[in-house]
Amino acid sequence: MESVLPGAAALLGQARRVVVFTGAGISAESGVPTFRDDLTGLWARYDAEQLATPEAFHADPDLVWGWYEWRRARVRRARPNPGHLATAAIEDLVPGTVVVTQNVDDLHERAGSRAPVHLHGSLFAPRCVGRAAHPAAFADPADDAADPGEGSRLAPPRCGHCGALVRPGVVWFGEALPEAALTAAAEAAATCDVLLTVGTSGVVYPAAEIPRIAARSGATVVQVNPLPTPLDAICDVNLRGSAARILPTLVEAAWGAAGRT
Ligand code: APR
Repeated sequence: MESVLPGAAALLGQARRVVVFTGAGISAESGVPTFRDDLTGLWARYDAEQLATPEAFHADPDLVWGWYEWRRARVRRARPNPGHLATAAIEDLVPGTVVVTQNVDDLHERAGSRAPVHLHGSLFAPRCVGRAAHPAAFADPADDAADPGEGSRLAPPRCGHCGALVRPGVVWFGEALPEAALTAAAEAAATCDVLLTVGTSGVVYPAAEIPRIAARSGATVVQVNPLPTPLDAICDVNLRGSAARILPTLVEAAWGAAGRT
C-alpha cells in the first residue's frame, strides 16, 4: 500500500471536486458491524429476508423494530473513528467534496461531515408507514434509551399524525432508494475529479453504480479496503488496509504534499 499511496495523495491534493463514497467498512473500527464480512457480518448472523424487507416488517413489526433499535443503540454507543474524521477533513480542505454513504449510522455527521448523502436512509429518521410517510411524529427514544438487547422484540411506536405504525427510516431490500439522494450522488460522481470508495463490497445496486459512474466519467477512482472487491476492476489505485489507518495517512500526504495544511 505504501508504494501507491503517494500517487493517490498527489491526485487527491490537486482535486477540485471529490466524492467520498462509503460503506459499512468505514464504521467497522467504531464497533459497528459490517454486513458481509465473514463471521462478524450482520448477514452472516441474521437473515436479511426476516429483518430488512417491507414484508418482514409487515409480518412481524416487533421483531424488525426491536432489531433496528438494537442496531441504533449500538451506533449511539459508538464513536466516529479516524476514517470518519479524515473524511470530514477532506470536506474542509476541498469545498467541492460530496460525501455519499450507504451507511445508516450517523457517524459521518458526528465526525463533522455537514450533509452526507444517505443512499440507504438513516437509523435516526424513522417514519410512519402511512401514505404520507410522515417524518416520525412520535417521541423518538432519548439518546440514553436503554439498549433493547440483541434479538429483543419491541413494539414500534405509532405516528402522532395518523396513528400508523412507525418504521425504521432505512431502505429495505426491494425498495427504491430516495430519488433525490440517488440523483445527487450520481451527479457528484459524474462530475468529480477523484472518487474515494471506502469500506464497501460494491455489490449492492444501484448504490454500487456510483463509483462506476465516476470511472466512466474519467475520474480517478481510489479504493480503500483491506480486501479485494469487484470494484478492483474499475479502480486506478487500490489502497489495501483499514479506513481508520489509510484515510488519515492519505489526507496528511495529500495536503502536506500540496502545501495545504
Ligand atoms: N476499513 C475499510 N474497509 C473495511 C474495513 C475497514 N476497517 N473492515 C471491513 N471493510 C470492508 C470489507 O472488506 C467489505 O468489502 O468493508 C466492506 C463491507 O462490505 P459490506 O459488509 O457488504 O457493506 P456495504 O458494502 O456497505 O453493503 C452495502 O448492503 O446490506 C446492504 O444496505 C446494506 O448499505 C448496505 C449495502
